[in-house]
Amino acid sequence: MKITINDIAVNYSDEGEKGAPAVIFIHGFPFNRSMWNMQLKALKDSCRVISYDIRGHGTSDPGNEIFSIELFVKDLLALMDALKIKKAVLCGLSMGGYIALNAIENYPERFIALMLCDTTCIADTPEVKEKRMNAIESIRKNGVEKYAEESIKNFFAPESITVKYNEIDAIRGMIVKTSEQTLLKTLLALSVRKETCSKLSEIRVPVLIMVGKEDKITPPAAAQFMHEKIKGSSLHILEHAGHLSNMENPGEFNSTLMTFIGSKRNDL
Ligand code: MLT
Repeated sequence: MKITINDIAVNYSDEGEKGAPAVIFIHGFPFNRSMWNMQLKALKDSCRVISYDIRGHGTSDPGNEIFSIELFVKDLLALMDALKIKKAVLCGLSMGGYIALNAIENYPERFIALMLCDTTCIADTPEVKEKRMNAIESIRKNGVEKYAEESIKNFFAPESITVKYNEIDAIRGMIVKTSEQTLLKTLLALSVRKETCSKLSEIRVPVLIMVGKEDKITPPAAAQFMHEKIKGSSLHILEHAGHLSNMENPGEFNSTLMTFIGSKRNDL
């Protein structure tokens, strides 16, 4: 489905019970909402589940503005308003987590719980910024397909590379379908994003933190750090998973998600 918000058409899905708590899934970079297919299927009988393509990704329009996490948060709030969702549960993976953390910092009254997956509160270090600039150069010079091949190795755990062929194909497909312009604009946005660590102690809603044991991009230590700072949060480290833990180990991921939502049901 498409909906127009902030002058762009956004591709989204909205399924499940309308009276139930709304859980909004926010994808990572450079993917799209289809990365959440298995979670939507598992949760739609008990919750209202929404997923959407961040601007420029999937089939959402890019618009003309410079990309930033703040702009992505503005889109998220406009989508919630358009769908008449006053308060939501957010589930964000990696870049989706950066968006969720920025959103709760600035609009705490709009969120009732967070699920932070394979993400971090720190800003890019100088080394990571340099890697992003190299990626921009490589995409310009060698194209998106080469970039997709190079990044896949980092997204998956070594054991997933040898068995998760469908998931790898799906991720490759998502990357190569992303326009060069969106890749470059998002890499720049990520490289200048603000840290959110200093505000974690102000989070007052239930928080579940999940991370693949072999996540090389946002490793378990980053998840542990957030867990220590967010009062009352739960931390779950997933076996057999790297950075894309929801696709690499959907069984454990979904049952952890559902247990968390079930246990907090009265607060939502
Ligand atoms: C993601 O999965 O969203 C990216 O790995 C985030 C990043 O590059 O920082």
